[in-house]
Amino acid sequence: MAEEHGGRRYRLVLTASPLQGHMTPMLHLATFLHSKGFSITVAHSELNRPDPSKHPDFTFVPLQDNLSVTADFSNAVQFLQALNDNCRPHFKQHLIQIINEQKDTSVKESVVVIYDNLMHFSGSVAGDLGLPSIILRTSSASFFPAIKIIPQLHQEGRFPVTDSVLQEIVPELPLLRYKDLPFTGLPIEYTLQIINMIIPKTPPSAILWNTLDFLDPSADTHIRDHYQVPIFTVGPLHKIIPTPSTSFLEEDTSCITWLDKQAPRSVIYVSLGSLANVDDKVSTEMAWGIANSNQPFLWVVRPGSVKGFKWIEFLPEGLVNEMNGRGLIVKWAPQKEVLAHFAVGGFWSHCGWNSTLESMFEGVPMLCQPFDLDQKVNARYLSYVWKMGVEVAVERGEIEDVIRRVLVSKEGEEMKQRGMEIQEKIKVAISHGGSSYNSLNELVKFILSL
Ligand code: UDX
Repeated sequence: MAEEHGGRRYRLVLTASPLQGHMTPMLHLATFLHSKGFSITVAHSELNRPDPSKHPDFTFVPLQDNLSVTADFSNAVQFLQALNDNCRPHFKQHLIQIINEQKDTSVKESVVVIYDNLMHFSGSVAGDLGLPSIILRTSSASFFPAIKIIPQLHQEGRFPVTDSVLQEIVPELPLLRYKDLPFTGLPIEYTLQIINMIIPKTPPSAILWNTLDFLDPSADTHIRDHYQVPIFTVGPLHKIIPTPSTSFLEEDTSCITWLDKQAPRSVIYVSLGSLANVDDKVSTEMAWGIANSNQPFLWVVRPGSVKGFKWIEFLPEGLVNEMNGRGLIVKWAPQKEVLAHFAVGGFWSHCGWNSTLESMFEGVPMLCQPFDLDQKVNARYLSYVWKMGVEVAVERGEIEDVIRRVLVSKEGEEMKQRGMEIQEKIKVAISHGGSSYNSLNELVKFILSL
């Protein structure tokens, strides 16, 4: 039962997106807000549903999305359009039902919508019904100026970028090179459509950002300049409150038993997140580099993530023999537990924002292999600004070299040191009186003021 706040109850309706890297922070936020006495409803697509049994205190509302069979994440514009168009009517109907039900109760209930920025229909439905709405952004703050500038660069003839300027600094964003900008290499119309979708037009009442003030203050300025509403930087949400596993795929916990038997900081953990699809030639080079480095490894190969293969059939037999005994390949790992394990010395990652925050919190140096979206920006910050990561090459000899640099060299030691410093700062930020701690308390007050 939700607590009353000043004679009024609050029902928060959270709309979560069906992507792993978006669902997880939303459920962490929901768990935190529930601990503060708010009633929680999670509206979600039928595709990639959260598990209600893990959150018995929440109400779950599946929205009919008609996507389960046809979902094609590779065309983001089509996917997001269909997701938003299809979920909208049912969401509106559900909110109207909540509003009508509360008319018959003696205790007044305020309804506030909190939505993932990819689920922008929620903001517009809330606006139609006169309800306040708050956006949760699950990517890094530095990503925002990097996408916001693209339409301007396009108008000035500087985007799409040409090969000759890829290594040059973008003058307006001095920490980034042109090659770090998102969507380089994609058709410009498609790029502009995506940007339009991820910088929604409906102004929210506030924005929550799963990041920390100290990581990128300049991005923070860009955001506050653009949105004239309160911004709360509340990350890293995965460390704010314990939350049951939010994985869509089953976690293979046998890897923890295997890690227990390895030497401290000796293992390279490899995982390219929940969406990336990799060419089999690239994956084979990765495998040779890992094998030749002679370091123990834990490699997550998500089923279907290597194009044209169900799982690890792309590995030549000789290579499997080469790798046998030195490592483990699993389909999905309990990643936060893995990164917190004493045996893990480096994380080869696509640099999705959740993976980046999780690695930073454990002080684990990263090998950065970004694909697109915010990943290239995150990778640049990891290697150039926060100095706890290195860029990974695609050729086996270079891969072997980079693994050794991170795990067994002075450079790796220094990155680990930087990682520990960042970990310490994050701990301060989420402790009593820290920036994220204060921001979350301000958020609670803000919601109660709506
Ligand atoms: C996507 C985009 O790729 C990313 O750039 C954006 O910031 C968020 O959405 P995703 O590919 O899912 O993200 O990566 P990431 O944000 O890192 O999230 C992956 C999540 O899956 C992490 O929380 C990680 O802990 C979890 N995970 C991954 C596991 O639990 N087990 C695994 O084996 C691999």
